[in-house]
Amino acid sequence: MSNKRNFFYKLPPEYRYIARRIYYFPIDFYEKITGKRGKGVPSRGEIFIGSGDFEKQGKHQVELLKKYASLKPDDKVLDVGSGIGRTAFALTKYLNANGKYEGFDVVKKGVDWCNKNINSKFPNFNFKFVPLNNELYNSYSEKAVDFKFPYENDKFQKVYLFSVFTHMKIEDIKNYISEIHRVLEKDGVCLATFFIYDKDADLTQFPGFKFPVLKDRYRLIDDKVEEANIAIEKDYLSEMIQKSGLEVVDYVKGFWSDFTLDKNGIDFQDIAIMRKA
Ligand SMILES: C[S@@+](CC[C@H](N)C(=O)[O-])C[C@H]1O[C@@H](n2cnc3c(N)ncnc32)[C@H](O)[C@@H]1O
Repeated sequence: MSNKRNFFYKLPPEYRYIARRIYYFPIDFYEKITGKRGKGVPSRGEIFIGSGDFEKQGKHQVELLKKYASLKPDDKVLDVGSGIGRTAFALTKYLNANGKYEGFDVVKKGVDWCNKNINSKFPNFNFKFVPLNNELYNSYSEKAVDFKFPYENDKFQKVYLFSVFTHMKIEDIKNYISEIHRVLEKDGVCLATFFIYDKDADLTQFPGFKFPVLKDRYRLIDDKVEEANIAIEKDYLSEMIQKSGLEVVDYVKGFWSDFTLDKNGIDFQDIAIMRKA
């Protein structure tokens, strides 16, 4: 693990937001006075969901949804872990007035930013804050393991999660997968990214994260911050999905485990595509 990342995970969640604002202050200031930041895009210090180009990554995510989840402009979609609106921002250029977007997240700053900057211009995009604990992002006490998504049954045609299940505990993931089954309509599709490995894989040979902390059928990047990053054994994940009533349509390998893969049309993380039969 890089020293920068190591240091970052040692900070309490609230301090991580401050550290980011300070770290990016010079470039944010420069981009502000030169007008280099894209219109309507949050500053780097505000983007708590990881580095990388906000607009480019959002467009990439929408392309993945079109390609693997057959996303349509008039779909009703649920974005679980909507962050600071990276995918939603790109989706505002794709979903039409008949389409409907709902997103929720455990970081109030992100949800507030989205309501102020996206919902105010696109009323068919709604964002909800849910105060659930995630030790990487906050210090709330309520757990995600029993959380019931605030939506009716069979409401969505598409549900997606980009880089969210990679930051959750196993029991929480199981609950979320069964909630996704509940809120998807029949034949609805869920696209979710994970770090997935085969049981016999030697992760020490992987070029990116090596997940050194071995648990029962899953692995962690950091023992102290369990939600920093999690990788799940493929058979175990398939069992969880099937148990929820969803079926696995396909897995698409990400390049985190193999830098020689052609990056076109895939993601850094692995993708699981699931369907409600
Ligand atoms: C790496 S960020 C990705 C954000 C967004 N999906 C994107 O791609 O821009 C992970 C997000 O998951 C959210 N998150 C973590 N635990 C969650 C939970 N139990 N329910 C909903 N969101 C959660 C975090 O607050 C954070 O916004």
